[in-house]
Amino acid sequence: MGSRIIGTGRAVPPVSFSNQDLERQLDTSDEWIRSRTGISSRYLMRTGESLLDIATEASRHALDKAGIKAGELDAIIAGTVSSEYAFPSFACQVQRTLGVTSIPAFDVAAACSGFVFALSVADNSMRAGVWKKVLVIGADALSTMVDWGDRRTAVLFGDGAGAAVMVSEPGPRGVLETLLRSAGEAWDLLSLRATGVRASADSEWRRDVADTLKMRGPELFKIAVKSMADITRQVVERAGFTLADVRVVIPHQANIRILNAVADRLGLPYDKVFVNLERYGNTSAASVPIALDEALEAGRFGDNDLVLLNACGGGLTWGASLLRW
Ligand code: UT7
Repeated sequence: MGSRIIGTGRAVPPVSFSNQDLERQLDTSDEWIRSRTGISSRYLMRTGESLLDIATEASRHALDKAGIKAGELDAIIAGTVSSEYAFPSFACQVQRTLGVTSIPAFDVAAACSGFVFALSVADNSMRAGVWKKVLVIGADALSTMVDWGDRRTAVLFGDGAGAAVMVSEPGPRGVLETLLRSAGEAWDLLSLRATGVRASADSEWRRDVADTLKMRGPELFKIAVKSMADITRQVVERAGFTLADVRVVIPHQANIRILNAVADRLGLPYDKVFVNLERYGNTSAASVPIALDEALEAGRFGDNDLVLLNACGGGLTWGASLLRW
């Protein structure tokens, strides 16, 4: 028994902020942001908006496309580090907004790798026969946690949510192989001391600077390239394929220079890598499921194609999953 994604969905806050918008409040430039990251705009939560609403909308889209009612789900797993509450989990909050009772709902905290980690938890449980229908969510709002005076981090992140409905199936389609890794010794390369407090780009008050997102970007850059390339090669080999067999790579969207460097290391043509970060920025755990949903909608892959998901983020964490669509 294995598991297969049968519906995906995405949602973002209503307002997109361009690099020019950020130029007005930070010592930065459209030229720097585009050339160093590939980002042109990002959707940012404004004061009073709720990531829970956004994740619920993405989940409803995924359920609709799957043709499954929320009440049929056996579990909800959310990859997120952005819950407004230390507890209950974000997944429990989504459970309530979806109106589902009596099923397990919990979060997986793996920062930008959150969706890939959550997908693996769902897949393994379904392989073990524990659940038959699972909603997996990736949702984050890191823009509400950055220091809006720090141009090194504030320009990078966007907010949003993506979701996938998975069902257990005997194969041959579905999740073929997943590999996950963490390097706790390097946790201080990307961290956030406290959660729960929102300080959106438009809010008047600010988080205490000590409680904002901290990132050692250049060091993280090198590790992200090596780890995403290595885990991608390993997961494909373990599944008994070569990279040439893969139709499309759907990576975590942190920086176009990271994506190109990973492709160079793997000898992958750039057009095999799906990129949408120019419009979303780095949406952390939401980036892979948002990109998956968009790539599917754009016809970048179809039934029986091999699709590779990979991600790297705070923890450090990284992982990759090979799917036969
Ligand atoms: O999602 C989890 C995984 N995330 C990542 O893997 C992120 C990895 N890191 C990166 O993507 C890149 O390191 C960044 C995009 C974060 C930074 O790019 P960089 O080319 O490594 O820049 P840098 O931090 O080395 O800074 C170079 C210069 C500095 O100026 P000086 O000190 O050389 O005069 C910065 O002050 O660029 C300056 N700078 C900016 N200038 C204008 C940094 N941010 C900005 C900015 N606007 N927003």
